[in-house]
Formats: sequence, structure tokens, C-alpha cells
Amino acid sequence: MPAPRTPERTRVAIVGGGPAGLLLSHLLHGSGVEHVLLEARTREEIEHTHRAGILEAGAVQALVDAGLDRVLRDGSRHDGIVLRFDGADHRIDLTGLTGRSVWLYPQTDVFVDLANRRAADGADGGAGSSGGSGNTGGTGGSGGDAGGRPDGEVRWGCAVTHVLDGDTDRPGVLWTDPEGDTHELRCDVLIGADGSHSTLRHTLPEAQRRTFVHEYPYAWFGVIVETPRSAPELVYTASEHGFALISQRTDTHQRLYFQCDPDEDPGRWSDDQIWAELQRRVAGPDGFRLVEGPVEERSVLRFRSSVVEPVRHGRMLLAGDAAHTVPPTGAKGLNLALADVVVLHDVLLTWLASGGRAGGAGRGGGAGRASAARAGGAGGAGGAGRGGRPDDAVLDEYGRRVAERVWRAQHFSAWMSGMLHSHPGETGFAARRRLAELRALTASESGRRYLAEGYTGWGPVLGERAP
Ligand code: DHB
Repeated sequence: MPAPRTPERTRVAIVGGGPAGLLLSHLLHGSGVEHVLLEARTREEIEHTHRAGILEAGAVQALVDAGLDRVLRDGSRHDGIVLRFDGADHRIDLTGLTGRSVWLYPQTDVFVDLANRRAADGADGGAGSSGGSGNTGGTGGSGGDAGGRPDGEVRWGCAVTHVLDGDTDRPGVLWTDPEGDTHELRCDVLIGADGSHSTLRHTLPEAQRRTFVHEYPYAWFGVIVETPRSAPELVYTASEHGFALISQRTDTHQRLYFQCDPDEDPGRWSDDQIWAELQRRVAGPDGFRLVEGPVEERSVLRFRSSVVEPVRHGRMLLAGDAAHTVPPTGAKGLNLALADVVVLHDVLLTWLASGGRAGGAGRGGGAGRASAARAGGAGGAGGAGRGGRPDDAVLDEYGRRVAERVWRAQHFSAWMSGMLHSHPGETGFAARRRLAELRALTASESGRRYLAEGYTGWGPVLGERAP
């Protein structure tokens, strides 16, 4: 590896430019905190990856609060979902039961909104364009309004290859730009928002981290089809042939899934076979049938639940899929990632303020300003005082505040998955018990409300708000 040039410095280095990393970048920009985001993929690659489509009310609120309100115009609000079993629909009235709705708004759109906004705010450094330039963010903070260096940069096509001095208060990374040149970036705090295969997570010392994992004996075969909608709301179907989910996208394209073997090869299925499998899973005495059309895309989504604890090691912190993954049933993954980042941003501001280094003037990051003011005014969470070294104990607040939501979502996703899927080799007893659970749950208003509370995201969860 060629010797890196003079290290570049920044306050916050974010590894990963998915929705979690980009939202953090956007919020830090709003708070005037200087940072650099490195993403290995190009924008185009990410934009062409299909991901889940449901945003909880709280996630929509977080986006709207951050000034990203296209979801309210282009997303579609869903006030209910359908559980289909015994060949009949059982509607869960989300809004009637909880006062909250969810929005069907694919992750790709969340990504595009954030990426566009960061570009509009001048953050696109161009792939690797300023790497190794010796920029010193240091204490400067926001320079954007004064015509200086913008306070945050997003660099596409820039892959982190090594983490340096992860357990010191000057961690760093080596990264390569699209031309293959290596650069060094040093920071005050390093954020791993680099997805389920996180490079950063793998550098945390084994002895100091625990990973809790649950594997599932089934997966989803996901397709995008060119047809009009077959149903106005999402239909989660449990049948003797296995699970199927009818979701929607646009007037002309829909998203459908059916349970399959984790090792299934999607290429060996013809369109006709896919439709036959979906139709037999949703069939019932009510005569419900899906509108058929060409299958445009297909892939297998594996199921995995995992949680890494702790999420902080020294000045490295993990967020989103780098810290935890959930199976897709219930679509909690993106929602958890966005919830993580809202708390992480707040904690970072408190931490910076504990060392007398809150962000700049702030630009519309209302929550950030409030938090910085709180930390500064009240001396932070036992902070080291103004002008000193930030108090790293403050960083532990992040893991403490997100843990309750993370584990609730783990339980919810595993519970919904278990209730709706048939297990390979399932006994007759187990299959009948699952059906009994679905019947009891939907027959009880308390049961329906419990499901609706989890599905819509519980609202603020214990511990998430700073004291
Ligand atoms: C979608 C995905 C999910 O995992 C889910 O629970 C609901 C909807 C989707 O892609 O539309």
C-alpha cells in the first residue's frame, strides 16, 4: 500500500452512506458539525438496490423534522394492514388502535432524498476529490455560510480499508478513492454506519463485544412485478404452503414476497411458477387472486437477527445494520437505523458540548440546537467542562438510549416471523398452534392493538429522550 500523504482531519468520520450515515451527515450539517462521510459504493449502485418499503410514523416524523418531507407527498399512508389466514382477511386497523399510521415509502426513496439534500447543501466532495488535501477541520466547525469549506462532505466510491488506533481518542481510517489511491483520515469520533457486513464492527476487539444472533430456516423470494395493485393495503399471508406478502409500489409496479428456502436459486423459477406459487398461498374461499404480469426483478432475502453489544468502543460507535439486523417481516430495519441516528446525533452534540465544542450556528437542526444548548447550559452529562476534553462517558448514553427500541424490534420481528411462516419439518401440533395464535390475536382487540403498536413503532420508547 502506498504511504498515505498528510492525514486529513475532521471531527466526525462516518463510514457508510446508506440512510443511517446520510441522515447523520445531514443532521450534523444542520448543527454545524464538521464531518466527512465515506461510502464504498457509488450513488447509482445504492439507488438500484431494492429494500423494504415501510416507514413507521416516528421515522416519517424524523425525516420531516429534518426538512425532508417528500415522503408526505409521494409516500402513501397506510392506516391498516391485513393478516390473511384460513383463506380470509383479518384487518388490523393501525390508526384506530394506536392513532398512528405507517407510510409505504421505499428505502431507495429515503436514500435519494437524503443524497439529493446533501448534494444541494454542497456536501458532494466528488469521489475522493479532497482526499489527502490536508484540510484541517479541527476547531473550525461550520464554514459553509462564510463561503469557506462546507461543514460536511460526502464521498462516493471511497472504500475504508483499515481502521487506525480505534482505541485512542484520535481514531482514523485508511481509505481508497476510485482511482485506487490511499488516504488517511483522522477524527475525534468514528461512526460505523456501514451496514450488516460492517468493516468497522469487525475491528472491535472480540473479547469486548458480544454478538447475539438468531438464524431462521427460511428466507423470502422477493419480486418486482409490472401489474396494478392487487390489494389496497399490505397483506401478510400465512397458508399451509407457507408465507406470502403482498406489498405495493406504484400504479404500475408492485412488490411481492413468498417464503422460500434460504438456498433457493431465484434464477431457476419461471414467471409462471412464481405466479402459481403466490396464487396458491393467497387462495381462499373468498376467491382472492393476484393480478398477474411480467416479473421484472427477483432476489432471495436471507433472514437474520443480530445485535452487537456494546455499540461503543472508545471513540468508535456503530449505528443501523452495522449494530443490529432484523428479519424483514414487519420492516423494522430502516426504522431502527433512523431511530439510532436521531439519538446518536443528540448524544454527539452533548459530547462535543461537554468539551466546549458544540457545533456551529446550526441550520434548521432544531433538535440539535436544543441538545447543544442543554449540554452547554447544564454542563452536559457530567461533562469535563467547557474548553476541555470531551467526556467520553457521554458516548455511552447512545447505547443506553437505543437499547430498548432495538430489543423490542428484535422481539417484534422474530415474533411476527415465527407466527406467519411455516417451519421446514414443522409438526402438525406446531402448525395448529400458530393458527390458534393468529386467530386469538386477531379476535382480541388487545391482541390487535399489541400488534398495531409494534407495527407502527411504539412512539417514543423508554430512554430514547434525554433526561
Ligand atoms: C415491505 C417489506 C417488508 O419487509 C414488510 O414487512 C412490508 C413491506 C416492502 O418492501 O414493501
